[in-house]
Amino acid sequence: MKIINPLLIVLVLIALAYAGVNGAGMTVLFGLAVPYIAFVVFLLGFITKVLNWSRSPVPFRIPTTVGQGKSLPWFKQSKLDNPSGTAGVIGRMALEVLLFRSLFKNTKAEITSGGMLAYGSSKWLWLGGLVFHWSFLLILVRHLRLFLEPVPGLITLLEAGDSMFEMAFLPAFYLTDAAILLSATYLFLRRVVSPQIKYLSLPADYFAILLILAIATTGVLMRYYFRVDVVAIKDLIRGLVTFSFNVPEGIGVIFYIHLFLVSVLAVYFPFSKLMHLGGVFLSPTRNMANNNRAQRHINPWNPDVKIHTYEEYEDEFREKMKESGLPVEKE
Ligand code: HEM
Repeated sequence: MKIINPLLIVLVLIALAYAGVNGAGMTVLFGLAVPYIAFVVFLLGFITKVLNWSRSPVPFRIPTTVGQGKSLPWFKQSKLDNPSGTAGVIGRMALEVLLFRSLFKNTKAEITSGGMLAYGSSKWLWLGGLVFHWSFLLILVRHLRLFLEPVPGLITLLEAGDSMFEMAFLPAFYLTDAAILLSATYLFLRRVVSPQIKYLSLPADYFAILLILAIATTGVLMRYYFRVDVVAIKDLIRGLVTFSFNVPEGIGVIFYIHLFLVSVLAVYFPFSKLMHLGGVFLSPTRNMANNNRAQRHINPWNPDVKIHTYEEYEDEFREKMKESGLPVEKE
């Protein structure tokens, strides 16, 4: 059920857009109103979440430490795995965000045929995740050509690199299209095939992947199979961006389905686990330097405790201590 239900929801969303546009001719609703509302919800939702997280108190210094911390000069510090300053934190964060470094170090535990516990390398999730996120990002950046006129040189360059395997009978084929479909399918199947991962997965895990798969599939269908009027779509998008609302005739329904699914993703995004996009930068275990030995950090919430040091104690009782023969530090 936790797989069927998300699948049904995605299919219903597709059917809604299809029926709305093809049956009821609601192109203004699906082409203008829904994308607008979705964009506003996305923006406000995203900003609110990030602001809330950034306002959350972090009373303890809790960076994840996976190597030798900065210590005496003859101990070699592991600068990336246990950063003690801002440069190290930025380096570790950049490698995490751009290359998923901690996932690369992922291991799997297995019981061997001889009954032994064995740890092995496990790189498929890292590879699948990395390919998925990078292709998603590159596709989004390539989409800017639909929003910008003239198209910036950098985007044309990216398109040229992405479509190096051009075939005579097709529009330029993008490597990232194949990459996102393959990697998202792998990420989905991983949660279906492995009983352990299936047990851990929630409907929301399947929904996010299925929705993104549906967006990529409709995009690919639109580009290579149904062929839509991209000039008319650019007109519509220009209308959206310049607030001069205009829905040109003759845009295929597949475009409205694609756009509707993207709108649903946008609305869903700020309230879902997909917010790890913004959250990773606000994670105290990742964005703090481990300088606990060099600097004393005091929890600002600590109550103001009145302390009585040994020196003060001795000052107070020195004479009495001497009289009863107790040793004192100061005469
Ligand atoms: C989450 C965001 C989105 C994803 C993942 C996505 C994905 C895709 C994919 C994989 C393709 C296939 C061709 C290509 O890679 O360029 C595509 C095509 C397309 N997408 Fe999207 N898309 C997104 C958002 C949008 C938005 C917001 C619009 C319009 C407002 C849009 C309009 C189009 C159009 C018009 C095509 C066909 C382009 C062509 O024929 O060259 N997409 N999309």
